[in-house]
Amino acid sequence: MKTYQLKRSTKLGISLLLVFIVINIAVKLFSSLELTAKSPDNVETSIITHHKQHPDCAPFDRRITPRHLFQSYFSIQQDSKWLAKPTLHSPTFQEIHRLLFGLSAPNIYATWPNYFKQKSDSTYPHTSLSQSIFEKLTEEVDIPIRFVVEVGSFMGKSAINIGKVLLQSQFNQNYVLLCIDTWLGGLEHWVQDDLREMMGMAYGRPIVYEQFIANIIASNLTDHVLPYSTTSLLGARFLLEKKLFPQIIYLDSAHLQGETYIELELYWSILQTGGILVGDDWDWKAVRCDVLIFIDSNQLNVTVLSTKTWFIKKQKRA
Ligand SMILES: *[C@@H]1O[C@H](CO)[C@@H](O)[C@H](O)[C@H]1NC(C)=O
Ligand SMILES: *[C@@H]1O[C@H](CO)[C@@H](O)[C@H](O)[C@H]1NC(C)=O
Repeated sequence: MKTYQLKRSTKLGISLLLVFIVINIAVKLFSSLELTAKSPDNVETSIITHHKQHPDCAPFDRRITPRHLFQSYFSIQQDSKWLAKPTLHSPTFQEIHRLLFGLSAPNIYATWPNYFKQKSDSTYPHTSLSQSIFEKLTEEVDIPIRFVVEVGSFMGKSAINIGKVLLQSQFNQNYVLLCIDTWLGGLEHWVQDDLREMMGMAYGRPIVYEQFIANIIASNLTDHVLPYSTTSLLGARFLLEKKLFPQIIYLDSAHLQGETYIELELYWSILQTGGILVGDDWDWKAVRCDVLIFIDSNQLNVTVLSTKTWFIKKQKRA
């Protein structure tokens, strides 16, 4: 990191030469990425380092970042009251249940009325986070995995894959997976008729939350997985406020340019050091460009697994 900043401060001629080299590296990285993209079953990895040129993405204004727009979110981290609170890296299922739903709330699964008579349905096709990919990702985490947050759960397909992997004997089986979603769909579900159908509209409102609950019950994960029905921004704020810091965050929420960038900044700040921020849909331009902006402005590297899944590791800063 220091070397990088020294280079930046050298004279114009050297800077131009460096920019030229960096562009060349970028082009090579992008073309190697294309090669990987042709074999989706092969879990190949390509590491993309932070650099200044992304030929595919629109330029962005470095003066307006989520850190400027969400000042109070980031400034809480300097607040002495907040600093004095203990950080929770391994909350129990009961603790999260109480924090979210109240001290005396009955178990949400045990008391689920199933008004819409939803049956479990595991046919949802749009998840790239398979059990084998998630297993591979856990190898990147240096610290015990106790608390995982998924942002964007929809019917729970990837949540179930995460949940099942973490039940294996090499992990601490007392983990909690918190799923943050509005369960109201994304833009694509409202503009495309076939996708709208997936949300199971009833009386003018999606009931995909009910489907999620049915699926978690059918997968026997009701002691581990908890839903938090809220927006990704509010969810991040809640976790920050309570100092609930997960070891893995799986981001599969916003797919609109700028929105993903905000989520990246907010969720990165609550990830435990040694953990990983994972995301879906690297092949969506909006997602990819926002991840690239994020790694540039924070001088991080992103690793792309297969064609869709990417992750960024939170290393200790020197
Ligand atoms: C869930 O548990 C029940 C009862 O132990 C069992 O019959 C069923 O096969 C399990 N389902 C899954 C998906 O593991
Ligand atoms: C990113 O990758 C480069 C090249 O491999 C390496 O020198 C650098 O330390 C990495 N940075 C981080 C933050 O991991």
